[in-house]
Amino acid sequence: MRVLSGIQPTGNLHLGNYLGAIRNWVKMQDEMDSASQCFFFLADMHSITVHEGREQRLRNVREMAAALVACGIDPERSVLFNQARVPAHAELCWLLNGTARIGWLNRMTQFKDKAGKNREGVSIGLYVYPVLQAADVLLYQATHVPVGEDQKQHLELTRDIAIKFNTDFEREVFTLPDPIIPKETARIMSLRDGSAKMSKSDPSDQSRINLTDDDDAIAQKVRKAKTDPEPLPSEAKGLEGRPEALNLVGIYAAMAGTSADQVCAQFAGQGFGAFKPALADLLVSSLHPIRERYVALKDDQAALDAILVKGAEKAAAAAEPTLRAAYDAMGLMR
Ligand code: ADP
Ligand code: TRP
Repeated sequence: MRVLSGIQPTGNLHLGNYLGAIRNWVKMQDEMDSASQCFFFLADMHSITVHEGREQRLRNVREMAAALVACGIDPERSVLFNQARVPAHAELCWLLNGTARIGWLNRMTQFKDKAGKNREGVSIGLYVYPVLQAADVLLYQATHVPVGEDQKQHLELTRDIAIKFNTDFEREVFTLPDPIIPKETARIMSLRDGSAKMSKSDPSDQSRINLTDDDDAIAQKVRKAKTDPEPLPSEAKGLEGRPEALNLVGIYAAMAGTSADQVCAQFAGQGFGAFKPALADLLVSSLHPIRERYVALKDDQAALDAILVKGAEKAAAAAEPTLRAAYDAMGLMR
């Protein structure tokens, strides 16, 4: 079993990233047996699709590395690195550009969302983004890729690219990866709008809980979260048609490690006046220690760089055989 996932180092981690992705990474790392391995990386090569200055980019990579360690990724047990330090990603991406089809990329909904009406004006990088993502996964022969629901399509594309490459070049160069999508927390929604996902690109900071928010900010955001006037039902089924209520109950269940049904049973008949303070307490007590570890680590440039350099060495060594096999299969190098 080989687990791999990545996250773009742009902006702060929020509760959606934590529950939808990172917490799952930590769980997989902690449940790993000695014959398996986890690779987690900062997708800084993907982040060139967003314009940022040099200093900001350097800071983002370190801050995201600090956040991952604070959330529980252990660089001694998992390989933690940033993509730019492992050139094999860019190399394999180019090789796979010969395999990926324009028609496949044209179906990518993330590209359509991010490009919006400005299709002709966005960078080629944004368009090819899913091919680089396929290279990330295939380089390491990853079997399990824990991601949020929104990345499912990119993983399907990765499998299509792997199948076509293996077929075209008549060699089993790549392993087909499976996405691991946690059901309950696949989509944490905005605190302001139950139909929009919680996202770092939402202009309203009130829409999300950042892992850097202090206790007061967390409590205040929960207090102001949009809800409805109805009391909580006794079963999760009763939350149908109440997206904001469903989201808050889902967040509570995920943080408490229970189910939405159990949360409903516990708060049945009570209004949000009672539920919100309980949710705020739960969030504060769970996120406080993560924030403390993050603050302690984030300015320790030397320690963070050392982690990433060491991780990149291990990653490069693990990627090498697959990259060579791809060149060889294509007749570019033997
Ligand atoms: P954002 O949407 O804030 O820009 P990213 O696209 O960088 O976040 O996502 C990083 C990881 O977090 C991905 O695996 C993604 O699926 C997951 N993720 C992002 N937002 C959410 C959310 N609201 N609920 C669940 N998972 C999420
Ligand atoms: N595209 C992913 C996101 O936006 C990040 C990512 C890049 C990734 N490469 C990956 C995730 C490889 C899983 C595997 O969240």
